[in-house]
Amino acid sequence: MLELVDVHAHYGKVHVLQGSSLRVEDGETVALLGRNGVGKTTTLKTIMGLVPASGGAVVFNGTDLTKIAPHRIPGQGIGYVPQGRGIFPTLSVLENLEIGLPKSPPPEVMDHVFERFPRLKERLGQSGGTLSGGEQQMLAIARCLVLKPRLLILDEPTEGIMPILVQDIRREIAAVNKAGVSILLVEQNIKTALKLCSRIYIMEKGAVVHEARAEDLKDDKDTLHRYLGVTI
Ligand SMILES: Nc1ncnc2c1ncn2[C@@H]1O[C@H](COP(=O)(O)OP(=O)(O)O)[C@@H](O)[C@H]1O
Ligand SMILES: [Mg+2]
Repeated sequence: MLELVDVHAHYGKVHVLQGSSLRVEDGETVALLGRNGVGKTTTLKTIMGLVPASGGAVVFNGTDLTKIAPHRIPGQGIGYVPQGRGIFPTLSVLENLEIGLPKSPPPEVMDHVFERFPRLKERLGQSGGTLSGGEQQMLAIARCLVLKPRLLILDEPTEGIMPILVQDIRREIAAVNKAGVSILLVEQNIKTALKLCSRIYIMEKGAVVHEARAEDLKDDKDTLHRYLGVTI
């Protein structure tokens, strides 16, 4: 479904992505892990065209996304929840949900979203900035779902969320995947990644350096310690 082949990217003269490759198959949930500053967010931004690739290919269902205009990428079927969530704080919940749409979404699409996120339905008129961190994350995910993506990309969805709500976010992501949407997840929370994902990539210094099945990685103390500094 999605394949990154030897992707490079620069910020000015700084060569940040130095040949990253990964793939997400239809229906999969895949995690991209790595320490701070290794280039995870930049990888996602390159997929979305927000940072131009300076080499390599990002192929989504046969289309090389590096060859099309960035504003056309969500329309290919990719939802993107950026790090920090990107909610418009002064717009209402409903306005936030409608922002990516040419017109109001059909009622059945909204019903589907509200079924999944009943708390948002109760808060449609409330401004986005007054929601809790967990609710903002739900709103950011819901905003993608109204566009009916086939792949959802999430950048640290549990960052800054009260521990008690992390489980809720995890459950929502699993439910979205169960409904047939593939997931590419960047996470600092290794437990969330291991719980949700079948396969895991690890980045270091601008490139993917390790790939493992989640069930193997969870017992691989050496790898977890070497690349992530995690002791289990
Ligand atoms: N807009 C930017 N301009 C210049 N350098 C950046 C910018 N965004 C990120 N970087 C640098 O690129 C590297 C990778 O950043 P990032 O992709 O955000 O890492 P991660 O998400 O893994 O923490 C870091 O060294 C970071 O300082
Ligand atoms: Mg990041």
